[in-house]
Amino acid sequence: MERKVMIANSKGMRAEVCTLGATLVSLFFKDKNGVEKDLVLGYDNPADYLNHTTYFGATVGRNGNRIKNGKFTLNGTEYLLEKNDGENNLHSGSKGLCYKEWEVEKETENSVTLSSVSKDLEQGFPGTMTAKVTYAIGEDNALSIDYEAVSDKDTVANFTNHSYFNLGGHDSGTMVNQKLKLYSSKFTPVDGTLIPTGELRDVKGTPMDFTEFKAIGKEIDAEDEQLKFGGGYDHNFIVDGKGYRLMAEAVSEDTGIHMKAYTDAPAVQFYAGNFIKKQVGKGGCAYDDRHGFCLESQYCPDAVNNPTFESPILKAGETYRTRTVYQFSID
Ligand code: BGC
Repeated sequence: MERKVMIANSKGMRAEVCTLGATLVSLFFKDKNGVEKDLVLGYDNPADYLNHTTYFGATVGRNGNRIKNGKFTLNGTEYLLEKNDGENNLHSGSKGLCYKEWEVEKETENSVTLSSVSKDLEQGFPGTMTAKVTYAIGEDNALSIDYEAVSDKDTVANFTNHSYFNLGGHDSGTMVNQKLKLYSSKFTPVDGTLIPTGELRDVKGTPMDFTEFKAIGKEIDAEDEQLKFGGGYDHNFIVDGKGYRLMAEAVSEDTGIHMKAYTDAPAVQFYAGNFIKKQVGKGGCAYDDRHGFCLESQYCPDAVNNPTFESPILKAGETYRTRTVYQFSID
């Protein structure tokens, strides 16, 4: 039976994580007027997380984002995955780890570690894999998400968190006036099915340029082939530099809430919630498209089939580790 675990720091920042899908269901932070806001979209009823395809707050694995034609070849063997997004596999299919019950391994006041074992060929991926995710809130108002995975065969490991942020509060409507900065000078253009073509394109001179703070909505509906394909922003950006570094910042002028996001992953999917359907969210509020944005740290989509991208292959017996941090302050 699923349960929710509350974690908090001594400053009053707190978050709730559900064992179903190791999902971040809420994230509370006080705005410039001292009013507590919940900054992520989600549902009150855990069962709703079983039926959705929006992935609110989900721990996505074993592979985040798309794999072309739902297949890949590793060590000479072809592996077939579910085609749950047209001809492609998205977020590891309808039996992804976000639909499973995770076990709580460790719980402290400000952190929780959850684990899940996925069997050889579960979702189609080789190797029995033990995955762990730790959510922790530091005294610096940073929510860190640490992933660890080990497999007994070579396999794909590419975990991410799919939270939809709205720095005005999850129930404040569209987030298109919020400003975003991405530490990315290149993105990976996609075809009409949102699979990267392999090109690394400069953002300069395109609507993809977020190298200076810009309202998310400023150019989201511009006449641009890439934006048409995604119905707005739904693109993978290469995070400049290597190792653990800043990947993005965002701010709401209404609440003064400023978020800085860090990762050691090569890239980030900036998804502007273009496909969120009209629906009822936490507290009975109404969600619609673009009510939240995602910054999903990751290997490039379809990297397992695309030698131009950094490889997402985890070798048997080795440990996959990656960390993403979302830190909050008031401007
Ligand atoms: C994908 C979107 C998809 C969304 C929800 C994002 O990571 O890039 O295309 O609609 O997840 O499934």
